[in-house]
Amino acid sequence: VRNLYLARHGQTEYNVMDRIGGDSSLTELGHRQASCLGEYLKNYDINYVFTSKKRRSKQTAQYVVDQMENCTVIPLPEFDEINAGVCEDMMYSEIKEKYPEIARDRSYDKYGYIYPEGEGYVTLKERVDRGLKKALFLSGNAERVLIVGHQAINRMILSHFLFRRQEDVPYILVPQNSLFHIISTQQKKLFELVKFMD
Ligand code: G3H
Repeated sequence: VRNLYLARHGQTEYNVMDRIGGDSSLTELGHRQASCLGEYLKNYDINYVFTSKKRRSKQTAQYVVDQMENCTVIPLPEFDEINAGVCEDMMYSEIKEKYPEIARDRSYDKYGYIYPEGEGYVTLKERVDRGLKKALFLSGNAERVLIVGHQAINRMILSHFLFRRQEDVPYILVPQNSLFHIISTQQKKLFELVKFMD
């Protein structure tokens, strides 16, 4: 792959409520963001789109696929959002109330913290690296590949390509109106952040 595009799914019902996990759908704004992503990428010939198994990722990817003539979509479970275990489907404020120790411990070490019955950034790394390997293998020498991921997943993917201190990774900004474009050749690696919607 020479050009890797990394986008996050558009806004979801859960995002609006500040709720984590689950499998909610895009909101109206989310659909618009996805449509702008498709509009932007239609100028480029995307050969492969990798999504997670979640609805929001697939819905977003569809807007891009609709703009392409010949594009293969492959959903990979390795790109599913971080599993928040006992906190799945909760609002951050509910977590603070019901499990204050989880909120506290996670704020002390967000990278190393593992949700009870779930995952942490530290355990996510192996899964995301495996997904990336799979995606790069399946797309062979394709020129342009898009991954439509999630907040935590995209943070891990970015940290794979760009040097970041581990403790900073869980705080990387992953907006829903922009994409990351990573150009990789033998001689150079270029990185750009493209805003496709205001
Ligand atoms: O849990 C879902 C979120 O997208 C991950 O965000 O690690 O900042 O809580 P967070």
